Amino acid sequence: MYELRNVTKLYTRGKDTIRALDGIDLTIADGDRLVIQGPTGGGKSTLLQMLGGLDRPTSGEVVLDGTDLAKLSETKLTSVRSESIGFVFQSFNLIPTLTAQENVETALVPLGVKTKERRERAAEALTSVGLGERLGHLPSELSGGQQQRVAIARALVKHPKVLLADEPTGNLDEGMRDEIMEVLERMWKEHGLTFIMVTHDSAIAKKAPRLATIRKGKITVKENAGA
Ligand SMILES: Nc1ncnc2c1ncn2[C@@H]1O[C@H](COP(=O)(O)OP(=O)(O)O)[C@@H](O)[C@H]1O
Ligand SMILES: [Mg+2]
Repeated sequence: MYELRNVTKLYTRGKDTIRALDGIDLTIADGDRLVIQGPTGGGKSTLLQMLGGLDRPTSGEVVLDGTDLAKLSETKLTSVRSESIGFVFQSFNLIPTLTAQENVETALVPLGVKTKERRERAAEALTSVGLGERLGHLPSELSGGQQQRVAIARALVKHPKVLLADEPTGNLDEGMRDEIMEVLERMWKEHGLTFIMVTHDSAIAKKAPRLATIRKGKITVKENAGA
């Protein structure tokens, strides 16, 4: 589980200091699903980067299962990321020259998984998101929704504890949005993930059991018992 204490992130641009996160306290239990919303520039992506160990806070603690990510060496942080945390981004971030299967396999390379097992697990992960027939396709040969499914398979093939998604449906049209949300929801349940998602979609926010809003680097969390 996550325990964030007084997390602050400052960015400096020339003479200006931007307070992207301003004293965030937040607890996220194992298996939780937390939806994060808020205006552009509020600090949502910055918070996800702290949770994912992609960047470090200026001050404060980001404790994941008893370990403060802010204090880990770069090597240890990289191994936490590759073992325990799956990411899905708005822009899919697939490698254009690799097939769907090869893109998914890349997540297993840092874990030292052998080629044959990598292929099998990638095929399995792609099948579980409904792309079993598209293993050899390049990203350019897939629709936006299919590309995002590949990204989801890549995030989950290593069986992470945590799935972080930053506006995963932001680049998709409406029909595909629902499809991707269904896949994410199913994966959350099937894998028993801790799932943290940034979204602008108010329909999703309305249904969220736990909804965080980030404005000007400050967070408020609302429990929605009826959801
Ligand atoms: N790498 C960076 N360097 C400088 N400023 C940044 C950087 N990343 C984000 N910011 C600033 O931090 C604030 C929060 O950004 P961000 O977390 O991306 O917000 P959101 O995802 O809610 O739109 C914004 O003012 C943004 O301009
Ligand atoms: Mg953002």
